[in-house]
Amino acid sequence: MIVERSKLKELMKNKLQKAGLSPEHAEQTAEILTWSDERGYHSHGAVRVEYYSERIFKGGINNQPNFKFEKTGPASAIFHGDNGCGYPASVEAMKESIALAKESGVAVVGIEKISHSGSIGYYVEMAAKEGLVALCVCQSDPMVVPYGGAEPFYGTNPIAFGAPTADERIVVFDMATTVQAWGKILDKRSRKEPIPDTWAVDESGHPTTDPNQVNALLPIAGPKGYGLMMMVDVLSGILLGLPYGHNVSSMYHDLSVGRDLGQLYIVIDPARFTDPQSFKENMSKSLDELTSVKAAPGFDRVNYPGERANLRRKAYEDQGGIEIVDDIYEYLISDDIHFDRYDHKNRFAE
Ligand code: NAI
Repeated sequence: MIVERSKLKELMKNKLQKAGLSPEHAEQTAEILTWSDERGYHSHGAVRVEYYSERIFKGGINNQPNFKFEKTGPASAIFHGDNGCGYPASVEAMKESIALAKESGVAVVGIEKISHSGSIGYYVEMAAKEGLVALCVCQSDPMVVPYGGAEPFYGTNPIAFGAPTADERIVVFDMATTVQAWGKILDKRSRKEPIPDTWAVDESGHPTTDPNQVNALLPIAGPKGYGLMMMVDVLSGILLGLPYGHNVSSMYHDLSVGRDLGQLYIVIDPARFTDPQSFKENMSKSLDELTSVKAAPGFDRVNYPGERANLRRKAYEDQGGIEIVDDIYEYLISDDIHFDRYDHKNRFAE
């Protein structure tokens, strides 16, 4: 069903607050979940509220965290998340990173001990809106085989990159390092359809086309995606002294304890490398040139990263709201906080 943006956000905020999150943290979290849904990243929107509510309610997200930004050098810092909600922690850490990058030219900021932070494209967009270039990487729970392996080791370890232009366009490249999200496999299961053999492997590590036999996901581009996953794990895990690789906490293992996840930002002020206005103008020209490239058969045109998400946002705006699955809407308007569905489940919430 179609739900008006402000209504959807309010419903999510109320639910998270009812579960125990502070009004400020519930507001920030609901805003980012809405940002994801309206860009078509439904895997990281309203669908997550019930899980977060269960975790908040059971104490696995600290609802009164002591966030602390600790500078460790002229351009480096650690943001201590105190196992608070990942969304407000990531927002606060990015605000500090933006200020540090403006002051020092570059900011490399590790965020330690947070809960899941959703679509990380949101955070790099914050920096791009300030005229800065930003990179974000974060850990997620192990469900992907390393290239050549038959057991899950890394998470879907996402990478996001944001950059401004001289016009209203913002580049937001935001992707998991897996071929497909687990949610897409669930969708195929429910439709009783096969999956391509490039998405996932079974217990023995063989590629499978049966969504019911999936034991782990595959990285993008074989060994290259596996290398990117490792890079993400080093930058947002080992570098920050946090659990890494297959030791990263599972999303659904024990909802009463904090997840100790890591995230890292690299924020760069273009003014320290070139004329900042020329940088933005060249970004705009580059997007114009890209989107003028002759389209291949089956394509209307070339899109720049973030363009399609923005077009989906505009389409939702034009139709007066965001499309939300009926069951999720029913849950959001109900009085229930959670249905005890996620605690002590396996990595696929089963
Ligand atoms: P996706 O596959 O929908 O898109 C990935 C990127 O490819 C986007 O930047 C998109 O703009 C670009 N793209 C896709 N099709 C395109 C086309 N035809 N032309 C030009 N560019 C195109 O995203 P994915 O990998 O499914 O990730 C979804 C969300 O999940 C992201 O927001 C990500 O941050 C989030 N995520 C969060 C995790 C966490 O633990 N916090 C873990 C994994 C993913």
